[in-house]
Amino acid sequence: VYTRFDGVPELREAIADKLGHYNGIRADPETEVTVSAGATGAFHCACAALLNPGDEVILFEPYYQYHISVLMAVEAVPVVVHMQPPAWIYSLTQLEQLVTARTKAIIVNSPGNPSGKVFSRAELEAVAEFACRHDLFVLTDEIYEYFLYDGRRHVSMASLPNMAERTVTIGGYSKTFSVTGWRIGYSVAAQTWTRAIGAMNDLLYVCAPAPLQIGVARGIRDLPDDFYGSLARDYQHKRDRFCSALAKAGLTPSIPEGAYYVLADVSRLPGDSGKARAMYLLEQTGVAGVPGEAFIPGVAGANFVRFSYAKTDLDLDEACRRLTQAGL
Ligand SMILES: Cc1ncc(COP(=O)(O)O)c(C=O)c1O
Repeated sequence: VYTRFDGVPELREAIADKLGHYNGIRADPETEVTVSAGATGAFHCACAALLNPGDEVILFEPYYQYHISVLMAVEAVPVVVHMQPPAWIYSLTQLEQLVTARTKAIIVNSPGNPSGKVFSRAELEAVAEFACRHDLFVLTDEIYEYFLYDGRRHVSMASLPNMAERTVTIGGYSKTFSVTGWRIGYSVAAQTWTRAIGAMNDLLYVCAPAPLQIGVARGIRDLPDDFYGSLARDYQHKRDRFCSALAKAGLTPSIPEGAYYVLADVSRLPGDSGKARAMYLLEQTGVAGVPGEAFIPGVAGANFVRFSYAKTDLDLDEACRRLTQAGL
């Protein structure tokens, strides 16, 4: 049967507990958590609820294309701040220059898809200060919160001083529990915003899939802490093996700090677009990647292909073997 529009109590409570002990966010499961159809649904509802047509929203490039698509769906205007490889550093000066009277929000995605960038606490504090000074919402997509490497710890924007009121935290279990098709995600925000986000969720989805809400709630409750630790260790191992194969193949990777994607420099491959280079690589090796233009428009994007290393060790080993033996 349908559940309450914002999710079953068991799941809202499990998420609120997790937010308390992992994210440092105090959220009332009754009024501040909205379970939705994946993080995608949660993000769409937040944008539909909080943005008006013509509102400008700043996001970091390379960006996750769905963020742009959702902004366009609600007729908001994406405005990008460039990050420089290989460490994906952005300039606060450029950020300031992008602000206009129409700027309404800024999107942060850390750990990030496609760059694997993890914003340091200092970087998040700088964005927080910027958002407060210009009175902006912060929409923060933290779906890869457990995929962190080299001893990094997750920092949630809403846990920073004075940020809970203006921050919408988006999360979900597609990645953490490897259940992308279950479509279980959530948003967390102050009650006023949650009321509007919940209304949108009701309108667009009625509710998230009922039995799968229960399944995810049990997972959150029952899995031991070490599940999350070993997840990060396993993926760090995958990252290391895949990045070293890319480097050996001459496709210099920008080493991800989190999430499970890597942008590799493919400029030495034949072709004048990311798509042509990705196709060349596919034909030569059978290894598929997404052309960089999906995340960085124009010529800069043509130099990159994004790979996902969320693969079985067997498949990953085979991909590494093919990349290193292809003589690219
Ligand atoms: C940054 C980011 N946010 C959200 C999603 C989608 O999450 P969900 O399956 O919960 O909709 C993805 C999936 O690739 C992602 O990379």
